[in-house]
Amino acid sequence: MTSHWQEISAELEKIRTKNLYRQCKVSSGIDFCSNDYLGLAKSGLLKEKMKENLSQDTLGSTAARLIKGHRQSMEDWERKFSEFVGAGASLSLANGYVANMGLIDTIADSRTAVFTDRLNHASILDGIRISGAIKKYYDHLDLDHLEEQVSKWDRDPASPGKRKKIIVSETLFSMDGDKPDIRRLVEIKKKYDCVLILDEAHSFGVFGKEGRGMCFEDLSREEMDSIEYRVYTLGKSLGLEGGIIATTELGREHLVNRMRPFIFSTAPMPMIFTTASDSLDLIRDMEKEREHLLRIASILRDGLAREGFSVSSTVSQIVPILMDTEEEALYYSAELRKIGFDVIAIRPPTVPTPRLRVSLNALLTEKEVLRLIEALVVVRRAKR
Ligand SMILES: Cc1ncc(COP(=O)(O)O)c(C=O)c1O
Repeated sequence: MTSHWQEISAELEKIRTKNLYRQCKVSSGIDFCSNDYLGLAKSGLLKEKMKENLSQDTLGSTAARLIKGHRQSMEDWERKFSEFVGAGASLSLANGYVANMGLIDTIADSRTAVFTDRLNHASILDGIRISGAIKKYYDHLDLDHLEEQVSKWDRDPASPGKRKKIIVSETLFSMDGDKPDIRRLVEIKKKYDCVLILDEAHSFGVFGKEGRGMCFEDLSREEMDSIEYRVYTLGKSLGLEGGIIATTELGREHLVNRMRPFIFSTAPMPMIFTTASDSLDLIRDMEKEREHLLRIASILRDGLAREGFSVSSTVSQIVPILMDTEEEALYYSAELRKIGFDVIAIRPPTVPTPRLRVSLNALLTEKEVLRLIEALVVVRRAKR
């Protein structure tokens, strides 16, 4: 009989053979891969604020929110965030992964149909899996396909008990940098009486008035109010770590009573919440940084296209360069690293097509972006 460790070694060997082996590497070179879109994780000002905040409270929260982990500062942060994104209430979690996963697990069950974009983040797909809901994929950004699926479900007499229907989508896709027609998502949600979850992880801080997210870019107030849940992370533009779900008072009350990762896990460190509040104050005023970020993204996109690289149909600071094979993606990433550029290869199962996911941040200069394009050309030439 094979031992557990033999089985594991064989599995790892299979992963290696397919060029899908993963390793943690200490980052080095110019940052073209983090999600620190506004550069706030590196902000001296925010670090100083965090030191001050650290001295105001215990280090760890010492327990779950419902035991002794709750603080007034947490409530203040949630209220402030709710106001910023125009929601009735919000609930903070340890990270965005847990926010998505726990939210879907809480509101869906085995009689719920969840309609998900095929390329939604793993935390969304895992939430569907854990909840036991019926997963219905629609093709990436194809909302005709979504509508077809939803109406088919409604017409199908075998649909179990015609319980809840949930639609879930990212508002800016993390690995492709493209976005759905959010207004149409709201229309479909209303027409077929579905619950809508939008994941604003990558658009928050970059898009919308004062960085409030993609919903603020595309929707009216009334449309926004019809969305039941919006999920955000503190780990990207806010420069910290954590997740937060914006919903209604009732939605929050329900999550507090039912959401397992909220109930059964130690609350995040209090200073995270107070510093998130400081980070939000900075984000509001970073209009110049947002403009710069989107400008260098367009320079990168145009430059790559001019040089004949295959760039996906991105509209944002995330610019994926599609590769033919996993091996090719790894080659580019390793060669770029040798000459001082931190660019990461993203491979299946994270994405269906291997790629270099270039993500820009507001601290990068136009010159550095042009240097990256040149470096990619040099690496390609050396490969031939
Ligand atoms: C779209 C999306 N949602 C949620 C998450 C999870 O957020 P966090 O990193 O805070 O766990 C990610 C992480 O990259 C993401 O890309």
